[in-house]
Amino acid sequence: MARFRSGYSGFTDLGCRPTGKDIVCSFYVKPSKGISIRGAAERIAGESSVGTWTEVGTMNKGIHEKAARVFEIKGNWVKVAYPGVLFEPGNMPQIMSSIAGNIFGMKDVEKLRLHDVKWPKHIVKSFRGPRFGVQGIRKMLKVPKRPLVGTIIKPKLGLSHREHAKVAYEAWAGGCDIVKDDENLSNQSFNRFNDRIRLTLKMRDKAEKETGEKKIYMPNVTAETNEMLKRARFVKAQGGRYIMVDILTCGWSGLQTLRDADLGMVMHAHRAGHAAFTRGMHGISMLVVADIARLIGVDQLHVGTVVGKMEGGKEEVMDLVEEMEKDFIPDKPGRHKLSERWHGVKPVFAVCSGGLHPGHVPKLVRMLGKDIIIQMGGGIHGHPDGTRAGATAARQAVDAVLRGQKLKAYAKRHSELAKAIRTWGI
Ligand code: 3PG
Ligand code: 3PG
Ligand code: MG
Repeated sequence: MARFRSGYSGFTDLGCRPTGKDIVCSFYVKPSKGISIRGAAERIAGESSVGTWTEVGTMNKGIHEKAARVFEIKGNWVKVAYPGVLFEPGNMPQIMSSIAGNIFGMKDVEKLRLHDVKWPKHIVKSFRGPRFGVQGIRKMLKVPKRPLVGTIIKPKLGLSHREHAKVAYEAWAGGCDIVKDDENLSNQSFNRFNDRIRLTLKMRDKAEKETGEKKIYMPNVTAETNEMLKRARFVKAQGGRYIMVDILTCGWSGLQTLRDADLGMVMHAHRAGHAAFTRGMHGISMLVVADIARLIGVDQLHVGTVVGKMEGGKEEVMDLVEEMEKDFIPDKPGRHKLSERWHGVKPVFAVCSGGLHPGHVPKLVRMLGKDIIIQMGGGIHGHPDGTRAGATAARQAVDAVLRGQKLKAYAKRHSELAKAIRTWGI
């Protein structure tokens, strides 16, 4: 068998064009001392495809053709094309073990960030994608245009199922469309999952009858995979239309299992833990996380708030909203060119949540548009007159924006909003 020059060299072909079957990754690369950017890029392409640290006699010509190719280096931005044959369609863990696996721990790179991925059509089509998406949810709720208003029951842990259901009812009655569990509430001894779901859904029905509006409850089913399915089925059996799941702590396989069960419920994705690897220049961007969530098929995803309690600047959050809701993306550094990338996969509702209050609403809508879900936990339950008034204030803030009125002016005739503004400002 012929011996081909390998190790980590021979993986660059600057200027070559990726094929329509390739997965194309854009990396930010900071090489370690003594390593050139090209050397680091080659090591990345080699290690994440067919290479190893030294030459091996088993590297025949056929294998060489399957190698990833570095085809563009611009400053610290490197683009790598991976032949489609390296991947098992429909298997996200396998794909991530390649393009986001060993390479993050290589001594030769000081910092490495998987910033953007261009998914070929056959990979896109191998996942289910959202069942409902933005339009499906709007249709279900009969709310064609305005941002949806949601709350997270607070305190995040500690309430009994009865207290939880009561607070949920108050929030719906006050004007919330959505009530959700917090990301770390599941089936604790003080608040059993089944009891909570039964009672809270009853309260949802009561609130729907009284308000004439559709109301949503998003129970957190996050758990071990089989248990998660069991809980989701329980929600369905009790008349639930939604589930929420912590997509990163339960993992891509867990998420896929849940989506593939195709239970006919909307899936809300909380991204708790993402910043362990999306923050800073080493890791995986939230953009890539969001793409994978959309491919697998969540209907709603937390994308950050710009103005709230969590990090994530304006540009990042705007990019994420665009990525979740549009089929095309503009030409930006480190991003792939304007291209059709979703091949009919439904748009995902972007969720802004974390440290928000009614005074933030105008800015959020100005920056991110009306196709967003605005969630407030403390910003509703912390209202001086309690949850119901807090929910009313949140809804009033959205109404003011839709009518093109300044919050301050609108608050003159809406006392709940006025109190919220006095408490937290604009
Ligand atoms: C929280 O639980 O406090 C927030 O949901 C964090 O929100 P983010 O994931 O949208 O930043
Ligand atoms: C969430 O899970 O989205 C949050 O708990 C938001 O809570 P907060 O509005 O009180 O920050
Ligand atoms: Mg939370």
